[in-house]
Amino acid sequence: MKKKLVSTMLCAAVATSLLAGCGSATETGDAAVSAAASAASSIVAAVDDATSSATSAAATADAGSKTIGIAMPTQSLERWNRDGSYLDEQFKSRGYNTELKFSNNEIDTQVSDIENMIADNVDLLVVAAIDGESLSTVLSDAKTAGIPVISYDRLIMNTDAISYYVSFDNYTVGTLQGQFVVDQLDLDNADGPFNLEFTAGDPADNNAGFFFNGAYDTLKPYIDAGKIVVPSGQTTFDQVATAAWDTATAMERFQNLLASYYSDGKQLDVALCSNDSTALGVAQAIQSDYAGSNTPIITGQDGDEANLANIVDGIQTMTVYKAVANEAVATLDIAEAILNGETPDEGLIKSAGWTFDCAYDTTSYDNGTGIIPSYLLVPTVVTKDNMVKELVDTGYYTQDSDGYLHPAG
Ligand code: BGC
Repeated sequence: MKKKLVSTMLCAAVATSLLAGCGSATETGDAAVSAAASAASSIVAAVDDATSSATSAAATADAGSKTIGIAMPTQSLERWNRDGSYLDEQFKSRGYNTELKFSNNEIDTQVSDIENMIADNVDLLVVAAIDGESLSTVLSDAKTAGIPVISYDRLIMNTDAISYYVSFDNYTVGTLQGQFVVDQLDLDNADGPFNLEFTAGDPADNNAGFFFNGAYDTLKPYIDAGKIVVPSGQTTFDQVATAAWDTATAMERFQNLLASYYSDGKQLDVALCSNDSTALGVAQAIQSDYAGSNTPIITGQDGDEANLANIVDGIQTMTVYKAVANEAVATLDIAEAILNGETPDEGLIKSAGWTFDCAYDTTSYDNGTGIIPSYLLVPTVVTKDNMVKELVDTGYYTQDSDGYLHPAG
């Protein structure tokens, strides 16, 4: 059995249990995680059996004495619930103990959560930072204690305590959004001009600039040619960023944009949003405050449930889907190699037997102390037309009789 299928099976079980645990999950994630654990337990044995290579089987022999600290930013943004559960289940499936914490999007909480994991003598840390600039001190303590750190999804800046970075190709996420707009508007042939507004992510998240730059660089030739116009004039990351990727913040900014630049009936053609939590707020603003009669193109990222519903309803146009179940598989294999005293590199992609695409990158991600070797998975564009093929047929979601998608279970 291939790991991709295993990921899909885990995904189905974990997503079910996340749904089941939704009402009671606390920010520590214990409820969601224990629900995930029980739902997934029946297939964890199969996963263990199916994924054990000779190397991992050897590693599993003493994995039970090792503990992995998993620090996730928050449960208030949908995807991190999935990440936390997948990581927890992946490590447990190979016999590791885990400590999983969600830090309520509060930097101090995340610092103290990591301090506690260091005090608990975890053997390795997997950290998705709330603020990439705020973990230097605590991670220097991890380094002193000899605890390797994997920077998960978001690059942690200004610390030499990071061994590896695991993420998706963040710049490509933005280029996929930009190219989608180019194709939808047929910008190579049409003259326009089309009106577009940008909404980007959290300045504290190193990914946010990559997403914005990928989209902006793709659209810039058309902006320069006058085919795309940005009526607000807000074309720099700082002008369009959204603190904490917050839905309400994105909505309020967009309501202001609509009031200031579109109340005279000007047509908005595109709302280029970096992710789904911001796209949700922008869509709300357009539904409540947009005077025009057209349906603007709205981009997103993640495949959050509410956004997939908006795609079915024609309110959002696309999302960039990232199979975080595979990100967890990659993280496990990298962690295991580190714990075995190896120095993983490009060769791991083959030797681990991943069936999902992943690039080993040693040029793109400099965290201020030098390049951090990176494993970058490949994102996928999802629209109303291909959502069943990409999300339902792959086992990540089910479709109800009204056409809406729900995490599989
Ligand atoms: C992740 C995105 C996510 C955003 C907000 C980023 O670091 O890469 O997938 O939409 O955080 O949660």
